[in-house]
Amino acid sequence: MELDGALRPRSLADYVGQKKLKEKLSVYLSAAKGRSEALDHVLLYGPPGLGKTTLAHIIAYELGVNIRVTSGPAIEKPGDLAAILTNALDDGDVLFIDEIHRLGRVAEEHLYPAMEDFKVDIILGQGPAARTIRLDLPRFTLVGATTRSGLITGPMRSRFGIIEHLEYYTTQELAAGVARDADLLGFKIDSEAATEIGRRARGTMRIAKRLLRRVRDFAEVSGEDTVSLVRARSALNELDIDELGLEARDRVILEALITKFAGGPTGVNTLATAVGEDGNTLEEVYEPFLIQNGFLSRTPRGRVATERAYGHLGYAYTPPAQSGLFADDNENSSETSDLAL
Ligand SMILES: Nc1ncnc2c1ncn2[C@@H]1O[C@H](COP(=O)(O)OP(=O)(O)O)[C@@H](O)[C@H]1O
Ligand SMILES: [Mg+2]
Repeated sequence: MELDGALRPRSLADYVGQKKLKEKLSVYLSAAKGRSEALDHVLLYGPPGLGKTTLAHIIAYELGVNIRVTSGPAIEKPGDLAAILTNALDDGDVLFIDEIHRLGRVAEEHLYPAMEDFKVDIILGQGPAARTIRLDLPRFTLVGATTRSGLITGPMRSRFGIIEHLEYYTTQELAAGVARDADLLGFKIDSEAATEIGRRARGTMRIAKRLLRRVRDFAEVSGEDTVSLVRARSALNELDIDELGLEARDRVILEALITKFAGGPTGVNTLATAVGEDGNTLEEVYEPFLIQNGFLSRTPRGRVATERAYGHLGYAYTPPAQSGLFADDNENSSETSDLAL
C-alpha cells in the first residue's frame, strides 16, 4: 500500500490518459477555485483499476483540500454517515465514498439532504420520545466511485453535478504509465518492453503496473539491470498472460462457455457457477474486458462466445443455436433484453 501510495499520481498532470475527462475536470476545478466554492459532487464510474480512487485523491489535491475516505459497505447505519459528515469535514473538503452503489437504502436517503442542502438529520433518543434535529454541514464535495453505474438509483444520480465515465487505456497510455513507474522505482525498461506490458494489460492501469513489478522481478533475478522486450515477453508468458492479454481465468471462462454450454447463450450465474466464480465477479471483473475485446457477447438470452473466442482458444467455430425454432421468442427478445441481462 505504501509503495502504491508513492507511485499514485498526485496531480492531474501526472495522471496518464483519460484526456477528455481531464480537460473537463480541470475546467470545473479552476472554476470552483476561482469562485472559492466547493466543487459540485462528482460521480466516477468504470471498471476496476482504471483510476477512480486515484482521481478522487487528485481532485482533493488540486483543490488544495483534505479528503476523507470511506465506502458504501463501511457505512452500515445512518449514524455512521452522520458521524463522518459532522465530525470529519471542513468547508470545501472532499468526501470520497468508494463503491457507492453498495450504500444502504437508509444511509442513502440521509445523504440526499447532505448533498443538496448541506444538512443532516440526526435522531436523538428512541421510540415515541425520539426527536430529529437538523444540523448544518460544511459545504463539502462528495466524490462517489462505482463499477456499477446501473445500480445507482435515479434520485442519487440526479444529485451529482458531474458524472464521468473512465475509459480503458490504450496500449500507449499503459506503456507511459509503466515507464513512469519504472522511473519512480529506479530501474530501466526498454520502450518496446513497456509497450509489450501495455499491450497485455487489458486496458487497465492497475494490471499494467502489477505486470511491471512481476516482470521486474524476473529481470532482477536474472541479473539484468534493464528490462528488455525479450525478458518482458518471457516473463509474461511465465505469468500465463497470453498475447492478447487474457489470463488463465479468462480462458477458463471462455473454454467453459464453449465446451460446457456449446458456446451459449447461457445465463451469467450459470456460467459463473461452472467456473467456480460468483456472478458479480464474473460480471464486473472478467466480462467487461472480454466483451470489449470481442470474445464474449451479451444477448437477450445470455452470454455467447464469439468466433474470436473460438479461434483464440483453438476450437472450430459453431455459431450459437439460432432461434429459427423459436422465432416468436426471438421477436420479443429485444424488448425484454434488459430483464435477461
Ligand atoms: N491515469 C493514471 N495514470 C497513472 N497511474 C494510474 C492511473 N490510473 C490509475 N493508476 C494507477 O493504477 C492503480 C489503480 O488505480 P485506482 O485509482 O485504484 O483504480 P480504481 O479505483 O478505478 O479501481 C493505482 O496504482 C494507480 O496509481
Ligand atoms: Mg478504487
